[in-house]
Amino acid sequence: MSTLVVSPALRPLVGSVPVPSDKSVGHRALLFGAIADGVTHIEGFVPGGDNLSTANALRAMGIDITIEGSHAIVKGVGLFGLRAPAASLDCGNSGTTMRLLSGLLAAQNFKSTLHGDESLSRRPMMRVLGPLRSRGAIVDGTPHPTKAGEVTAPLHIGPLADDSVLQAIEYESPVASAQVKSALLLSGLYAHGVTFVREPHVSRDHTERMLFAMGAPLKTMGTMVSLDPAGWNGKLHAQNLVVPGDISAAAFLLVAAQLVAGSRVTVRHVGTNPTRTGILEIMRDMQAGIHVEAKGDVGGEPVAEVHLHQTPTLVAGRIGGETVTRAIDEVPIACALAARASGTTRIRDAAELRVKESDRLATMAQVLRQFGVQCEEFPDGLDIEGTDAPLRAAEVHSHGDHRIAMTAAVMGLIADGPTRIRDAECIMTSFPKFVGTLRALGAEVAVEE
Ligand code: S3P
Repeated sequence: MSTLVVSPALRPLVGSVPVPSDKSVGHRALLFGAIADGVTHIEGFVPGGDNLSTANALRAMGIDITIEGSHAIVKGVGLFGLRAPAASLDCGNSGTTMRLLSGLLAAQNFKSTLHGDESLSRRPMMRVLGPLRSRGAIVDGTPHPTKAGEVTAPLHIGPLADDSVLQAIEYESPVASAQVKSALLLSGLYAHGVTFVREPHVSRDHTERMLFAMGAPLKTMGTMVSLDPAGWNGKLHAQNLVVPGDISAAAFLLVAAQLVAGSRVTVRHVGTNPTRTGILEIMRDMQAGIHVEAKGDVGGEPVAEVHLHQTPTLVAGRIGGETVTRAIDEVPIACALAARASGTTRIRDAAELRVKESDRLATMAQVLRQFGVQCEEFPDGLDIEGTDAPLRAAEVHSHGDHRIAMTAAVMGLIADGPTRIRDAECIMTSFPKFVGTLRALGAEVAVEE
């Protein structure tokens, strides 16, 4: 178990840095490449542990995947070429691996089991299994340890009987979730009839963009997406894909730069798909010195260089509604910004944060208080009182949650002494070079094993 020790920043953060490849796009490139016809080349692929969980699960089903440097090659086997895995598939800490694979595996005529780590074994899976069942899938979970009627990992899937196929579905999702939407679309590639999903707000749309580019019969209309395989030849065409940098990783560096006086930081080649850019809008609304320089599209996804020139004052924000969906993984780091803004930042409509790698409303409330920041917890959000004073150096537990660990590290830069973050190895799931990148910008961070 490693501990990070972050020293208060004595000088501005300065520099231009890359970030790891977008985790969401990486999962999809591997998964869709595996069931495509032909060889998929993925450039700019700098995976963390979560993407490797997807790669290893696919390998266990006979997919040849090589990753050399930042180039991955996936030898597609077509829609019906996956082999039955010999053992349970390990999804590690990755909810996206488990939920997207459930959709794909629900349509196969072999049996599979999916398991994950302690955190994944508490996350709700009925949101995916429920609609899959209603279209004829044979899917089951393990009773949730605390939530009656809910199920979690391990999941037991299939097999579908030889002569049966999944049926059409018209699904109105109660939550805006790209994982639910993607699981249904993946199962829909194999179904008889139309898959129709509607969500309250548009969640990240990487699945729609990539599947459409590969030739899937898919249409989007605002918050609705449909996939109608009638008349389709059943082939996804392998692509040469370029994965943009992960805006969810970039957010930690941008907020760090806004917190440390005099900082000037650029994050290069960041994906700026509008379904992901809520954090940039939140930062701008709170008067952070953010500037986005568009750099065109890669593989159907917009990219930009994002610059942060620290501004002397931040104002409290109102974070709610569809912005939360477009910043769902960035709410913890937005809390760090709120800790420095004048006034009370109100976060609402964020109940989904309670079912992420940790209960992020509860864990962030605890972390903020440990740093001496006043906050009040609500069922779907937080009120955070900003302060000008240095934060109180803290000893923080990550709760096994990479985004909590990185948020605490960023807060440590403006504390009145060294901050210790215990169980920080979870950062490897999404941002293996986090410490090195902070150091390259001038921060002092030590790692104790
Ligand atoms: C993801 C979707 C989001 C996000 C997660 C990655 C994806 O989850 O929080 O980190 O790649 O589809 P939900 O779909 O549950 O909102």
